[in-house]
Amino acid sequence: MDKAQLKTKLSDLPVADLKWFAKIGSTNDEALAWAKDGAKDFSLVVADEQHQGRGRYNRRWVTRPGAALAFSLILRPAPLEKEQAALFSPLAALAVRQALLELDLRPEIKWPNDVLLNRRKVCGILTESQWTGDQLDAVVLGVGINISPEALPPDPDLLFAATSVESETGHPIDRFHLLHQVLNHLISWRNKFGDADFYQTWRNALAFRGEMVQIESKERAMLVGVLEDIDPQGSLLIRLADGTSSMVMVGDVRLRLSQQ
Ligand code: BTN
Repeated sequence: MDKAQLKTKLSDLPVADLKWFAKIGSTNDEALAWAKDGAKDFSLVVADEQHQGRGRYNRRWVTRPGAALAFSLILRPAPLEKEQAALFSPLAALAVRQALLELDLRPEIKWPNDVLLNRRKVCGILTESQWTGDQLDAVVLGVGINISPEALPPDPDLLFAATSVESETGHPIDRFHLLHQVLNHLISWRNKFGDADFYQTWRNALAFRGEMVQIESKERAMLVGVLEDIDPQGSLLIRLADGTSSMVMVGDVRLRLSQQ
């Protein structure tokens, strides 16, 4: 795949501008720099390989050539989107989920924004923002999808069980068609940003509902309880052992199944 081929593949989508790299440090770094330089809404950075890919909580995200999808999409948030900035990661998760549904898979969304297949992580999302003072100028949605088993890091490096799209479908897939579908669905879900359908679909796709989970964050003691629900703002509701509910806001928090 080269830039011209990718451009043709995405030609029916309103991608403002496209950068393609055979190898790069991190598509999110490139996209953040590009956003600062004035990139338009829906500009896209795609790479075949990343050698300094980043995940949440400053973790490394490995992208091996030919084995994964790694891209970062620059959005210029509209005023109403700025008021619900916590929903950008779920926006990407909903789009990835829908593209995977089309492959006859049964994706779930692990709050706030990992996508799972058979309870294993197939996609990670790193959303980063660019501010001028208190003005949100740009949001970068960084998406990494494991396409083939080669995309997975060696077992000891894995904090959470992982899988790939092809391990689940049992046959090869066209990763650039998947990219096309994810972007296409992202456009549709963006038109419904935060509305009732957006919220209900996210709720219905939520992994681990009714199961014991633990929530870790730097700011507060670990919470253990039953994952009850999410609210329309994207906060998680956990039922604690004493019967009360606790609300966890999206942020630098991590969720695990309690027995892990
Ligand atoms: C996570 O699960 O921790 C998030 C992983 C996000 C990885 C993607 S790959 C494309 C983009 N560029 C990066 O450096 N990170 C994101």
